[in-house]
Amino acid sequence: MSISPENCAILAEAIEQTCQTLFITDARGTIIYVNPAFERLTGYSREEALGRNASILKSGEHSADFYAAMWAALRAGKSWRGRLVNRRKDGSTYTDDQRICPVKGENGEIKYFLALRHDITREIQLEEQLAQSQKMESMGLLAGQISHDFNNLLTIIIGSMELISEDLKPGTVGHKLATEILRSSKESTNLIKQLLIFARKQDATPVVVSLNEPVKELKVLFDNLLGRNVSVAYSLADDLVKVKIEPEHFKQAVMNLAINARDAMNGSGAMLVRTYNAGPEGLPPSLPRGVYAVLEVGDTGPGIPKDVLPRMFEPFFTTKPKGKGTGLGLSTVYGIVTQNKGHIFAANSPRGGAVFTVYFPAILA
Ligand SMILES: Nc1ncnc2c1ncn2[C@@H]1O[C@H](COP(=O)(O)OP(=O)(O)O)[C@@H](O)[C@H]1O
Ligand SMILES: [Mg+2]
Repeated sequence: MSISPENCAILAEAIEQTCQTLFITDARGTIIYVNPAFERLTGYSREEALGRNASILKSGEHSADFYAAMWAALRAGKSWRGRLVNRRKDGSTYTDDQRICPVKGENGEIKYFLALRHDITREIQLEEQLAQSQKMESMGLLAGQISHDFNNLLTIIIGSMELISEDLKPGTVGHKLATEILRSSKESTNLIKQLLIFARKQDATPVVVSLNEPVKELKVLFDNLLGRNVSVAYSLADDLVKVKIEPEHFKQAVMNLAINARDAMNGSGAMLVRTYNAGPEGLPPSLPRGVYAVLEVGDTGPGIPKDVLPRMFEPFFTTKPKGKGTGLGLSTVYGIVTQNKGHIFAANSPRGGAVFTVYFPAILA
């Protein structure tokens, strides 16, 4: 079977213009064709890629056995499909669902390999978010059980200590110790309260509001909290859709984000508070389709290290020195947001600095 010259031209044009990344190697794996989508994805220009072995894309994240199995299938004339982590010219990696098909000559000998890429960034994001929410769910259950029981015990300890210290003479060692026990117990109650928020064991009376209202109420507090060297810029959408939330809890969450921004910026920098509408198109893949009011809190700090990102919402996870951080700020935020049927994402802004994005479903009147 042969293709007519017209069809050849059509094929060439289609392959050149498709957004599907595609390249062809000879039987030894030397690259003999790449399309423009390949150039865009990998950062290698056609001139740079041609004549080189496909192993320039190797990320080093797969074992020798992995590649051996792939080549065994290909040399046997079978096509191969799998998830491949590849490396771009700039050293960053990307994940492909890659299909490689041998192209055979008339005698059945392998002439070329055609590598086609299916972009699975979205699927991977979904998998990661699902794993993340399951982890937070189980932590919530654990934290809820412990903090509930512990809270009850603390109530007994505090009640009893109050009675005991009434009987003790002020100024005595016993009285001092009793006061100290009371102080520590009350501090523990505060910690437990935050854990209870994370574990969704809080009473809430949600109301229908625009997120702009609680944000505006926080302005004065921010000025005091953040210090003179942190500026705060606001960009609040006039047409923001209403949401149903518990405003006091929400304010607590935004405060926690602001405190973290301050800490990250080490006392000087800029915080940006934005609200806008999002959806139904262009939402993060894990969000149910719909319209959302979004709050974004960004800072000009150093951003979030890659290994911190997946763990930062866990209760007691902190990178701050002992005595500085409790690791309960973001778990409280997470609890409040999810309790109010919202979703929260942490990311690094392309300009540097961390960005926290919170979505609440719109209440459409
Ligand atoms: N704005 C931010 N920029 C960079 N890292 C952050 C930011 N906010 C939080 N983090 C990271 O997340 C961790 C957990 O935050 P959090 O739960 O509030 O606990 P804590 O502030 O007590 O450490 C912090 O220790 C820090 O490593
Ligand atoms: Mg904090």
